[in-house]
Amino acid sequence: MKIALASDHGGFSLKKQIMAFLEEQSITYKDFGTDSEASVDYPDFALAAAEAVAAGECDLGIICCGTGIGVSMVANKVPGIRAALCHDTFSARMSREHNDANILTMGERVIGPGLALEVVQAFLTGKYAGGRHARRVAKIREVENKYCGPK
Ligand code: RB5
Repeated sequence: MKIALASDHGGFSLKKQIMAFLEEQSITYKDFGTDSEASVDYPDFALAAAEAVAAGECDLGIICCGTGIGVSMVANKVPGIRAALCHDTFSARMSREHNDANILTMGERVIGPGLALEVVQAFLTGKYAGGRHARRVAKIREVENKYCGPK
């Protein structure tokens, strides 16, 4: 499993902690920036990570900003991406099980690092349940196709 990571300055510190957490578990990741707390524009970094997931270069993504909102909005514009903004473990697990989410977004100014790493763990270990959810996820894809064309 390879994880696409990205953040803006507002999520940089949380991303570093997620990196350490993944390293402890020998989970491979690719960091799409930013690489400091200098002010940047979150769409640039969210887009790069989301494109890597959409292209299959990475299996899942985790993207952080101050709130998790901006990066979620950007990632969800990329065809094939289902980004979930989660600040609790239940939502993170359900985003995988029911929605087949492929990107987790979080806000460093919203959540503490202890819970954030538990959210990451819930997201990474959640398994897509398929079944009735597959019909609904297919309908998400239909909406995407209607406005963006088939991927
Ligand atoms: C940056 O100040 C902040 O706007 C950004 O990190 C994010 O919260 C946007 O959604």
